[in-house]
Amino acid sequence: MKIAVIAGDGIGKDVTAEAVKILNTVSSVFGRPIALEHLPWSADHFLKTGETLPANGYDLLRSFDAVFVGALGDPRVTDNRHARDILLGTRFELDLYVNYRPVKLLDDRLSPLKDRGRKDINFVVFRENTEGVYVSIGGRFKAGTEDEVAIQEEINTYKGVHRIIKHAFDFAAANGLTKVCMADKSNAMQQGHALWQRVFKALAPQYPGITATHQYIDALAMFLVKDPGQYQVIVTNNLFGDIVTDIGGALQGGLGMAASGNIHPGKTSLFEPVHGSAPPLAGKNVANPIGAILSTALMLDTLGAREEAKAIEAAVEAAVAQGHTTTDVGGSLGTKEAGDAVANFIKKEPATFLRKP
Ligand code: NAD
Ligand code: IPM
Ligand code: MN
Repeated sequence: MKIAVIAGDGIGKDVTAEAVKILNTVSSVFGRPIALEHLPWSADHFLKTGETLPANGYDLLRSFDAVFVGALGDPRVTDNRHARDILLGTRFELDLYVNYRPVKLLDDRLSPLKDRGRKDINFVVFRENTEGVYVSIGGRFKAGTEDEVAIQEEINTYKGVHRIIKHAFDFAAANGLTKVCMADKSNAMQQGHALWQRVFKALAPQYPGITATHQYIDALAMFLVKDPGQYQVIVTNNLFGDIVTDIGGALQGGLGMAASGNIHPGKTSLFEPVHGSAPPLAGKNVANPIGAILSTALMLDTLGAREEAKAIEAAVEAAVAQGHTTTDVGGSLGTKEAGDAVANFIKKEPATFLRKP
């Protein structure tokens, strides 16, 4: 496996070091080579060279089996240009239309909700990842004056809406799940989100074993906190998916726990923690590396290295259960030590992990 690694900015660098540690660990324990190539693309690189990514950057990424990203975002780059080119640009150019963001509480102790535990917090979010309001179509007229007009268009295409909703249903069907909930704002956004309604209603009858429900996104945000146990699969647009998966991070005990894949099935895909570069925490050995580490498991699973992926997930669960974590999730370890704890579980008892279902 050939993996491109973009550590990026802030705590992206801290957590990527631990993700790399885990990839090297599973490679040596399981004996399957994993070649990592580090790409320097980041705010530092942009500020030094003026380049966000090279002209052949997206083609270069396509030459890898997968891409791992830490986080991008730096207060010195106020227009966030490098992050838009590197992260959003890759999502668009590599057409990574599935943003797969599982929300799974690993230990009851980490639940932020009274009387809700592991059995209630276990669902996946499929976020449309290539259109919506993220396409940067629009402009500003009379910018900087009191007559300023700012237009930011939202794009919803039949192809884009259909493929993400179909992916959500197919995932449910393939994994024995029986509930898919689509969230939109079709009561207020009567053009674009009417398309989501039409496509969802057209696809649902093709999956007779699956109960297809709809919620407006505001109600869904409320129910995520009040009754998360009702969800198995949520599918929604780019912006709403961004927002609800930060809530999902909190439901897992903290944003540092949440993992994601930006996927085009069968093509080079990108894996990253859900969190950002958290500048106040950067370089202090305090960031939680678990979201990054679990993203390596999603990546390996997607590449067919199922045993390695399972071993990582089991090791993370063991480390969390025994409190070998960073302070944001109740432990007393630094980033590096928390990464070591997971690596040690993988090294010590791979056979035990493999017996787990
Ligand atoms: P953020 O996710 O970086 O951090 C928000 C808060 O969550 C932090 O202050 C911290 O309290 C907590 N947190 C996040 N990750 C954590 C971790 N691993 N361990 C412990 N605590 C953690 O969001 P933000 O502060 O809104 O954004 C900072 C920068 O990151 C911005 O430039 C933003 O654009 C960027 N960003 C990038 C990505 C990405 O690269 N995928 C995602 C989100 C935000
Ligand atoms: C995420 C991030 C990005 C997004 C930002 C950095 C543009 O918040 O991956 O969740 O909004 O998609
Ligand atoms: Mn986000």
